[in-house]
Amino acid sequence: MLILAFIALAILVILFLAIALYICSIFPYGVMAPPFIPSSSELHGLIATELGASPESVVYDLGSGNAAVLLAAWRQEPHARYIGIEKHFFPRTWARLKCWRTESGARIELRDADIFETDLRPATHVFCYLFPQPMQRLLPKFQNELRPGALVISLDFPLEAKEPERVIDLSSYRTRTSRALYVYRF
Ligand SMILES: C[S@@+](CC[C@H](N)C(=O)[O-])C[C@H]1O[C@@H](n2cnc3c(N)ncnc32)[C@H](O)[C@@H]1O
Repeated sequence: MLILAFIALAILVILFLAIALYICSIFPYGVMAPPFIPSSSELHGLIATELGASPESVVYDLGSGNAAVLLAAWRQEPHARYIGIEKHFFPRTWARLKCWRTESGARIELRDADIFETDLRPATHVFCYLFPQPMQRLLPKFQNELRPGALVISLDFPLEAKEPERVIDLSSYRTRTSRALYVYRF
C-alpha cells in the first residue's frame, strides 16, 4: 500500500514538473513577451510566397521560433539569405536541429539575439509573428533601419500607425489561431 502511494506521489511530482517545464518553455520571459507559439504549418507556404524572396534577398524572421517559416521560404528560394533571431533556447535548438537535417546550412543563420538589439539594415524582407506591444515598439526601428522598398509581413498583429499595403484574410484557412497577414512596404 505504501509503495503504491509512493508511486502515485512520484507520478504526480513528475507530471507537475513536466507541466511547469512546458509553461516555462512557452513563456520564458513572462506572459507579456511573445511566447513560443509556432505559426500554423498550413500558412507557411503562403507566407513564403508573400515574402517572395529572390536570390539577392536577405530575409529576417524576428522571433524565428523553430525556423519553420524560414525553412518554408528557403524551400521556395534556396539562394536567398535567411536570418532567424530567437532569444529562447528551446525553439532555437529545435530550429538548429531542423535546419541541420536539410541542405539549408549555409543559407539559414540562426542567431541567439534580441530582436530589439538586432541591426535590420541588411534586411530586404522581414517576417514577424509577435504580440501587439512589440509590433508597436518595432515600428520606429523599421522606419530608421529598413532600406526603402523593404517588405514587412506580420502575422495577426498589425503596426497600428502604418497603413498596410495589403491585408490577407486567413478565414478560409483551417487555422483557428490566425486571422490575417499584414503586408507593409517601407
Ligand atoms: C509566436 S512565436 C513565432 C515563432 C515563429 N516565427 C513562427 O512563426 O512559428 C514568437 C517567438 O519570438 C520569440 N521572441 C519573443 N521576443 C523576442 C525577442 N525580444 N528577441 C528574440 N526573440 C523573441 C519567442 O521566443 C518566440 O519563439
